[in-house]
Amino acid sequence: MFRMAKRAQRPKQLLHFSASLYYSFRACSRRWMSARPEERHVVAAPRKKVTIQHLHALRASRTPITMLTAYDFPTGRACETHGVDITLVGDSLAQVCLGYDSTTRLTLDEMLHHIRAVARGSHAPLLVADMPFGTYLASPEDAVRNAVRIVREGGADAVKLEGGLELVDTVRRLTSVGIPVMAHVGLLPQRHVALSGYRLQGRDAESALGVLKSALALEEAGAFAMVLEAIPHALGTYITQRLRHAATIGIGAGSGTDGQVLVWDDLMGTWHGHQAKFVRRFADVKSEVEKGIRAYSEAVRERSFPAGAESYEMPKAQWERFQQLSEECGVGDVAKDT
Ligand code: KIV
Repeated sequence: MFRMAKRAQRPKQLLHFSASLYYSFRACSRRWMSARPEERHVVAAPRKKVTIQHLHALRASRTPITMLTAYDFPTGRACETHGVDITLVGDSLAQVCLGYDSTTRLTLDEMLHHIRAVARGSHAPLLVADMPFGTYLASPEDAVRNAVRIVREGGADAVKLEGGLELVDTVRRLTSVGIPVMAHVGLLPQRHVALSGYRLQGRDAESALGVLKSALALEEAGAFAMVLEAIPHALGTYITQRLRHAATIGIGAGSGTDGQVLVWDDLMGTWHGHQAKFVRRFADVKSEVEKGIRAYSEAVRERSFPAGAESYEMPKAQWERFQQLSEECGVGDVAKDT
């Protein structure tokens, strides 16, 4: 009877032992890793997934939609955590992350690498990814093939395409096979050379009419939303009113659109270079980065970093034994030998 009771206790003890082993391993690995993934249980309750239907409801109730670019896991995670509605893996990553002089240099494989990282951090916001220059222009079939990679390999919910009437067939084809499309009219950065620079579009009546016609046709072809970039305020508001359901997301299109988008680095003030008229810096990350690096370098140079509390100790007896062992092995204190 006693034996049976003891045997019955064994699995419990074993369980207890392996649990404590596990927790002490976790405690150790927590201390030893300088960069480690956030622990899931300290993260706030997961948000509900933002759907296209939800975006259309926001538009109908005139609730502004927030869209922000993200390029990697931490920026994707920030969009997730701080309530952004749409995370956009913009091809602006070519310039702000990869150092290219134009978005036209970005390849689909480079883009996929970044979409996957963002997708690991951003779950609730609708995840939209730009189709890089040249991946949707040759034919609708080519566009479908590449968009499928963006959805399947990247994990994006939808794709964004820059262009006007010439893309109507492509948008129709993509949406017909279930790939949601966000259109992008007005200033088209992928065509900055043809446009003679990053300039305001739709400034005169004829070109404003061209932007309106594109917006109407792209909605008709199935776009669920569209970016309006660098167009006059009045035109942005007018297009928003003329569309039946597609949500307009403005960047340099005034306050009358259904939502706004900014490039992460512009919003955060990651650098203090040229600033477009429509950019507002909501933070000054560049100054904080400068402060941090200067303080770190200074501390390293004056040997105030790391302090005692930031270093590991060895039991005194082990240290003495180590010295003795190293001397015995002939790898001991060189200074002593000379
Ligand atoms: O690439 C990008 O970041 C964009 C936004 C500016 C809309 O297309």
